Amino acid sequence: MDRQAQPSQPRSEERTAHILILPGDGIGPEVAAQGVRVLEAAAKGAGIELAFEEGLIGGSSIDANGSPITDDLIERARSAQAVFLGAVGGPKWDALPFAQRPERGLLRIRKELGLFANLRPASVFPALVDASTLRPEVVTGIDLLVVRELTGGLYFGEPRGDALVDGLRESRNTMVYNEMEIARIARVAFEAARLRRKEVTHVHKANVLEVSQLWVTVVEEVAKDYSDVALHHQLVDSMAMLLLREPREYDVIVTSNLFGDILSDEAAMITGSLGMLPSASLGEEGVGLYEPVHGSAPDIAGKDAANPLAAILSAAMLFEHSLAAPEPAAKIREAVASVLDDGHRTIDLVGDSDLAPVGCAAMGDLVLQRLGEQ
Ligand code: IPM
Ligand code: MG
Repeated sequence: MDRQAQPSQPRSEERTAHILILPGDGIGPEVAAQGVRVLEAAAKGAGIELAFEEGLIGGSSIDANGSPITDDLIERARSAQAVFLGAVGGPKWDALPFAQRPERGLLRIRKELGLFANLRPASVFPALVDASTLRPEVVTGIDLLVVRELTGGLYFGEPRGDALVDGLRESRNTMVYNEMEIARIARVAFEAARLRRKEVTHVHKANVLEVSQLWVTVVEEVAKDYSDVALHHQLVDSMAMLLLREPREYDVIVTSNLFGDILSDEAAMITGSLGMLPSASLGEEGVGLYEPVHGSAPDIAGKDAANPLAAILSAAMLFEHSLAAPEPAAKIREAVASVLDDGHRTIDLVGDSDLAPVGCAAMGDLVLQRLGEQ
């Protein structure tokens, strides 16, 4: 059977799942290495066979191939079951022309693999309630999922780019969505809500933007198929405020590419650290891409100071969404919770506490140890 046509193939003991690892730049390789160790250990525990391949993306690909991603890499990603990515970007490549920057590699792989649905779950581990800059009573129990549209909107709309108009430099980007793009991401949100608290908040700017008005209309049409799920609409500016005021109120948040980019960083920070937030990018082709939401953090790269937990939790999402294996996913999350309960923290999570920070690899060791004990 054609694997590409089967998004959630039930795992079987005979088949080997091919995972393409793209460590990328900055702290990407450090956190991805810990994620891979956890993938290996959890797969072994569950009797799942994984085969790993490595590839280049972002700055590392620019250095080796002269461009942030190659056609060959896209093909390799297409034929893998899942792609596991670290992070891209860094000051070394900042001066490059726009089209050659590391970020273009990430945007192109998302687009070419048709990964339109970006799931960014933000929840608070009980042990980290004090790591948030918000008061514990505000953050205790946060459990929300940002469903961000990932292959359309302002990021990809045409026309785009620079021009000289009446002797003045001008530049434009276009926010454009068609109803198919809106309906399919709305369905992802409603389906996810059905497995959660059955509430969807659609975030928009319909008081100003026609594009947002179309979103409101189409999301409401899709909602008719999900009468068991409550739907609310929220303006993006007030959503930014409400996420700080009462983040526990929200279950699934569905929104366009740019709004989702912004709100998911906010949601992450509310939970304590950007270093904790995993993500899954899914499409219709079958291959999924898993990456921490944080960036390449060049300032701490190579110092063994990064928090690998977002990458490790992304590995859990890979089991869930690409291998239809919820048990190892749950075990990874339990292992992470247990390590945190015991007071182990990377530097980003130490805050005002007097806990001594552990390094990136040591944090990986701790999670592996807990996995082994389960
Ligand atoms: C993210 C990042 C990317 C984005 C960048 C690196 C292109 O911020 O995944 O949130 O804007 O989508
Ligand atoms: Mg972002």
